[in-house]
Amino acid sequence: MTDDLLRYRGEFPILERTTYLISNSLGAMPRGVYNSLRGYADSWAERGVRAWEEGWWEMAVGVGDQIAPLIGAHAGEISLHQNVTLTQAVIASCFDFRAPRNKIVMSTLEFPSIQYFFHEQARHGALIDLVPTTGDVGLDLDTFLAAIDENTLLVPISLVLFRSSFIVNARAIIERAHKVGAHVILDVFQGTGVIPIDVRALGVDFAVGGVLKWLCGGPGVAYLYAREDLRTTLRPALTGWLAHQRPFAFEPGPLDARHDSFGFLNGTPHIPALYACRPGLEILNHVGVRHIREKSLRMTTRLIERARAHGWTVNTPDNPAERAGTVSIDCPHAQEVSRELLTREILVDYRPRAGVRISPHFYNRQEECDFAIEQIAEILETGAWKKHAAEPVAAGNHQHTR
Ligand SMILES: Cc1ncc(COP(=O)(O)O)c(C=O)c1O
Repeated sequence: MTDDLLRYRGEFPILERTTYLISNSLGAMPRGVYNSLRGYADSWAERGVRAWEEGWWEMAVGVGDQIAPLIGAHAGEISLHQNVTLTQAVIASCFDFRAPRNKIVMSTLEFPSIQYFFHEQARHGALIDLVPTTGDVGLDLDTFLAAIDENTLLVPISLVLFRSSFIVNARAIIERAHKVGAHVILDVFQGTGVIPIDVRALGVDFAVGGVLKWLCGGPGVAYLYAREDLRTTLRPALTGWLAHQRPFAFEPGPLDARHDSFGFLNGTPHIPALYACRPGLEILNHVGVRHIREKSLRMTTRLIERARAHGWTVNTPDNPAERAGTVSIDCPHAQEVSRELLTREILVDYRPRAGVRISPHFYNRQEECDFAIEQIAEILETGAWKKHAAEPVAAGNHQHTR
């Protein structure tokens, strides 16, 4: 079978040198980023302060409009921020945590940064209901739904769980939350660019994510979608001059707030990161998420089959409808094995309670996935993993990927 998507491989230099299977953490850099960042340097160097007027102020709108179709949003519906934690903070600042509606319902499987942020809101009155699950793969939907009640203010939940790549039943959670008057913040970070997402069809209140993983956009750009009615009724307290109706009038006093996606902004935008992310977004839109999803399912299905054939535990759902782009393989000595894979230029990562996470993307060859599995088997057979047995989990080593 010919694989049409392999024609994009030449756009990603790192694929020539490594077996790059870590797009759940940091997508490969498109070659076009060199030119894009040069464009940034040139406009700063040559146009100086005029660069703001000549494009920088408008850039975020253009980038937001490139992200919108990837999550089912319309042009103009997205505001851009520096990271996902900040998007959650901007959203949270639209609400107050006065009892009785002060409960935040979250899963223990939620990305830790989001758990940390909301726990700190306890100082403002938030009551955190951290819902446990059995095992580390899927969410116990019924237990989670039961926690959402009339006292619930916010439900921050990942569409795709970062550890297992399990796709959460967002529709059921949104339905339950809306029945009791709660708002859902859907973190689509691990889904966007690898599974189809339609935030408008879901009717979700908010969706947030970043571009550095499956969108190959590099660090520094996160997106915030707020449903149309909420854009007009809600006002973030974490705000600033870009949310003002007339930012360049520099008026003293309170904010005259905008009621569109700009209403969620605050200070000066992250211009270099906006330049860096555009080539990746262009490619992703060109490839199309439907094609990516088809290929991704073929690759992850085969990874699961092969891992099982070796007798290894797979901490990713078998059911393709519940599985996004990563396969977590808990083979013996998984941490040491993943370190040895890295020394062999096979880029993957390791997570406790997940195992070796393998994340092929549209630019990978099937043979690269097979090669990773063969190498794991060889590392176990030959005992090559033992070289890494005594290595501490030190800050700054390359296992610290997301
Ligand atoms: C689901 C999910 N949410 C959030 C984050 C991180 O958020 P931030 O952009 O704040 O670092 C990650 C990983 O980096 C993630 O996998």
